[in-house]
Order: sequence, then structure tokens, then C-alpha cells
Amino acid sequence: MSFTVAIDGPAAAGKGTISKAVAAHFGFAHLDTGLLYRAVAKRVLGGEDAVAAARDLKAGDLDAPGLRTPEVAQVASRVAVEAEVRSSLVDFQRAFAARSGGAVLDGRDIGTVICPEAAVKLFVTASPEVRAERRYRELTEAGHKTDFANVLDDVKARDERDRSRATAPLKPADDALTIDTSNMSIDEAVAAAIGAVQARR
Ligand code: DC
Repeated sequence: MSFTVAIDGPAAAGKGTISKAVAAHFGFAHLDTGLLYRAVAKRVLGGEDAVAAARDLKAGDLDAPGLRTPEVAQVASRVAVEAEVRSSLVDFQRAFAARSGGAVLDGRDIGTVICPEAAVKLFVTASPEVRAERRYRELTEAGHKTDFANVLDDVKARDERDRSRATAPLKPADDALTIDTSNMSIDEAVAAAIGAVQARR
């Protein structure tokens, strides 16, 4: 039987870490759906049309190098506005969610659009400043040269675009449990998410 955990929220709120930990804890498969939009963005940066790239996307594209850069993230947020790009990616995500043995999908519209019937829906968020601080640390540790003000501007610009788009905007599902990680350690946030999933099993 399939058991889907939908984890949505803005950039750098801790979704990725929490999703991986929940998947590992319960032995579920995990799909970071942001990678789909990033893989399309990468191909757009290489000169392809966004809709054509989305239609033609292969599972192997998700392993392409360079998907985690801030440049690709910004372009991903732009291509994600296009309804045809989004609709081309729906089947892949739903097929992943339906696999037996359980699946965790994290993104922006999993609980609202992709898997409205998910067994568990979490909305993981944190203040823009806290998220920018985390992203800044990650980027600096990975050797990227950047300053905090730039990262904060990027986070806010992406939030604004993700929240205000007409198709599948970022917002909590009505029945989602919100976890605000602003004042939580990683361990606390992971424990809260695992507890929520455990309660529904
Ligand atoms: O989660 P991420 O930072 O890798 O996502 C990159 C961009 O992709 C994000 O700014 C918006 C878009 N996205 C989306 O629109 N829907 C999703 N389910 C996942 C990501």
C-alpha cells in the first residue's frame, strides 16, 4: 500500500533535512521535487525551451551536476511559474508518490496539488532571516563567495515569486501541520516531523 508524506515550505526552512530524516526513519523513498524544476532550469540555461525541457525530463537529469547553485535556483523559481512546465511534471511526481512502501515528497505544492490525499501533510517554515542565515552558511561552507544581504534578497525574491504565482502557489494545505523551525534545532524539527508521521501510521 502507498503511504505518502507531503512536506512543503519555502526555501531553506529545513524541508530537505527533515524529509531525508523522515524517509530514513520509516524506510520510505524520498523525492526532492525542487530538483525537477532545477533540472528544467539547468536545461533552460543551456538554451532549451522550458516547456520542451519539462516534457522531455528524464530521471537521470535529477543527478546532473550544478543543480544546487543559487543561479539555477532563481531560474527554477521562474520556470516554475509556467503552468505547462508544472503540468508536465505532475505524472512523474504522482507515480513516485504511489510507489509501494511509502514515499516522502518535498516541495511547494505537494499537499495542495500533487498529493492532496497524502496521509500526512507538513508545512515547514521559518523566518526569512533565519532561512537566509542557514543558506548563507551552507553556501559559504561549500566555497561560494557571497554576502548575507544578497542571500536575504534572493530568499525574499524567491518567496515572493513562489507565493504569488497563479498556478500552485506556495501555501499550506488546509489540513497541513505547520512546523516553524525558526527557534528549533535540527533534531527538534526532525523529531516533530517523525512524531506527526508516527501518529498517522
Ligand atoms: O526547493 P528548491 O529550492 O530546490 O526549489 C527550487 C524552485 O523550484 C523553487 O523556488 C520553486 C520551484 N518549486 C516549485 O515550484 N514546486 C515544487 N514542488 C518544488 C520547487
